[in-house]
Amino acid sequence: MSFDCPPSCPFVAPMRGELKFPVGQVHRLGAAAKDPEVDETRRNVLKLAAVAGLLGAGGLGFGAGALQYAQPPVVGAASYFKCQLIDLDGTPLTVDKATAEYNVNTADLLLFNYPLQNEPNFFLNLAAPPNGTGGVQNVPGGIGPNGAIVAYSAICQHLGCPAPAIEYYPPGTCGTQFNGRDFYIHCSCHGSTYDVANGAANLTGPAVLPLPQVILETDAQGNIFATGMTANSPPVNGHLNTLQGDYPVGASVQLAKQQPSQVDCSFPS
Ligand code: FES
Repeated sequence: MSFDCPPSCPFVAPMRGELKFPVGQVHRLGAAAKDPEVDETRRNVLKLAAVAGLLGAGGLGFGAGALQYAQPPVVGAASYFKCQLIDLDGTPLTVDKATAEYNVNTADLLLFNYPLQNEPNFFLNLAAPPNGTGGVQNVPGGIGPNGAIVAYSAICQHLGCPAPAIEYYPPGTCGTQFNGRDFYIHCSCHGSTYDVANGAANLTGPAVLPLPQVILETDAQGNIFATGMTANSPPVNGHLNTLQGDYPVGASVQLAKQQPSQVDCSFPS
């Protein structure tokens, strides 16, 4: 078997590169992301000056107590938050729209970042197309009329290859079946495979952990929101904590469509 890596392999996610805001700005989510950006740099400089002045006045010198304020702030979110998903056309994504537009056969990669800007996730509707057959219903964590709309991290749990190196394979992409199904998420970097109908559980290595799953919820109008990560989810690869490592997305985030990169039907055990 060959596992020639695509250009995005081995594991540096382009969406995890440079920070998109000057270091020092921290998004605060306590106000439901209405005012998510708080400039901590200026505040910390003032703290530093104040502490230095106090220490100087007390004859204590400029010591370790002040240095803690010179450390860059930890970037991240204090807790999970509600984030509305926006469709490709710029309108709110509802379960009705998702059911009509996307299904188990949709080959385009539909991605959204949550909870942080460098944490992309797959948006999948695993149900059969309208008036069609195939797909699955009532999958763990699934929402919508078929219980088949789910979202999983699009960063591989092996060495962190991001989409499109890791991508969704619709039915018929490869001849291989797992648990009687021929659709799954597969990483072309080294062959890891994930069960989209079962919490993105690991089907083939070298990865041993499932992809983290985003909790999706709806309101009375059927609008779709990301509200957290499931209790069984490991941290997003590359993050010690899914809530730390970049700036949070805001109160809404739009789907982005990406073309699949490379089909690799090599499945190590
Ligand atoms: S990064 Fe190695 S299998 Fe995905």
